[in-house]
Amino acid sequence: MGQPEASEKHQDRRFVLIAVIAGLGGLLFGYGTGIVAGVLLFLTHTFQLNGSLQGAFVAVALGGAALGAAIAGMLADRWGRRRVLLATAAIFVLGSVLAALANTVLLLFLGRVLVGLAIGLASTVTPLYLAEITTPARRGAIVTINQLYISIGIFVAYGVNLLFANVTSGWRWMLGLGALPAILLFVGMWVLPESPRWLIQQGLAIRAAAALQYLRSTMQVTAELHSLQQGGAENNARSTSLPELFRNPKLRRLMIIGLGLAVFQQVTGINVVLYFAPRIFQETGLSSPFMAILATGGIGLVNVLATVLAMRFLDSLGRRKLLLWGLWGMLISLLLLSAGFLLPLQGLAGAILIVLVSAIFVASFAMSIGPIFWLLISEIFPLAIRGRAMSLATVINWLANMLVAGVFLDLVGAIGRGGTFLIYAAMALLAIIFTLKMVPETKGLSLEQIEQQLISNS
Ligand code: GLC
Repeated sequence: MGQPEASEKHQDRRFVLIAVIAGLGGLLFGYGTGIVAGVLLFLTHTFQLNGSLQGAFVAVALGGAALGAAIAGMLADRWGRRRVLLATAAIFVLGSVLAALANTVLLLFLGRVLVGLAIGLASTVTPLYLAEITTPARRGAIVTINQLYISIGIFVAYGVNLLFANVTSGWRWMLGLGALPAILLFVGMWVLPESPRWLIQQGLAIRAAAALQYLRSTMQVTAELHSLQQGGAENNARSTSLPELFRNPKLRRLMIIGLGLAVFQQVTGINVVLYFAPRIFQETGLSSPFMAILATGGIGLVNVLATVLAMRFLDSLGRRKLLLWGLWGMLISLLLLSAGFLLPLQGLAGAILIVLVSAIFVASFAMSIGPIFWLLISEIFPLAIRGRAMSLATVINWLANMLVAGVFLDLVGAIGRGGTFLIYAAMALLAIIFTLKMVPETKGLSLEQIEQQLISNS
């Protein structure tokens, strides 16, 4: 008994290492978006960027990300997941180096567009690849490595911003350091195999078998290969096109789930809390910038730790339960934040309460709709259209992200912070109703079984 168990453990460890390398795209996402705040402080001086150019600096990367996400699925369905991840890493390195060395605003913006493009590609293809190489029993945890990396990337970016805040030309370091994880991803993906599911869909069964043997560290892959082949054959018979996603009622329902979660993940305000936190904390009573930044770091850490908890429970408690509990947590904390701003809470005690409730909000997000949006969109769509459908959901996620960040300050100007957070709370309530009515449980099922249940039988 001892022998096989030991070798299973060894295989397990090797697979986790594979997923940890393949998931690095998430780190690019988190770092690339998180680093902007620190860079902006410098650029205002170095390039004399006025207010609207500063806005444009943020927007070009988000626009690039929306574009990257829009083409990612089509490219991944056509060229394979691995090649797109290799291209993603290369573009990220190029963009980071270009932006870091830039001496003109034009080069700086060009670098950021490339970084944005790579972030968009990574945001679609990383969860897609992870979902397709793993086994059903641990898919929740493995796909969530992507979200874990996103949160780590944001946290590391906070740290790098702080570290280089007082260094001459520190912004060059902030932008350039992003190239390091991208190089790691490139080297890693060079070694890792293509998704066996995609290979089967291309009719490349022998390569799919070899990929499975590598991923499972065993030659005994016949049973799994057979079930993937069966799923692939049914899938090819079905062969879905993008317009079909909206015409066929069963597929339309899946699209509504993907797009709904994409929007709800953003309009409940996570990025407002993550990116405007120092400012909010400072204005509510943490008057020293140092304390405000420290509190923000704490929130970033809570984001990482709660994602680890989600990884622990997604495959046992299931997606629906965690999603609902987390959304309730978000709703309650948003109501408390809104009340806190409306009252308004004053002084240090008030500020500490706001920081604590923000931490509960971020933890609730990180245990629910944060990872579960990325997980579900990698699970619910049929293989033939998975890449393109994920692309669409991801583009909507980026557009919602841009919209929420873009209108936040104006919204606060018009209806105050209390009113703004009340809107986010209303969105959380809608998200709960949406989940109760629409979201299926997918834990423990293979991607082929999910497809069978959601499309053939429902
Ligand atoms: C999710 C969101 C992203 C957010 C992040 C925070 O991945 O898609 O917009 O910044 O979580 O951890």
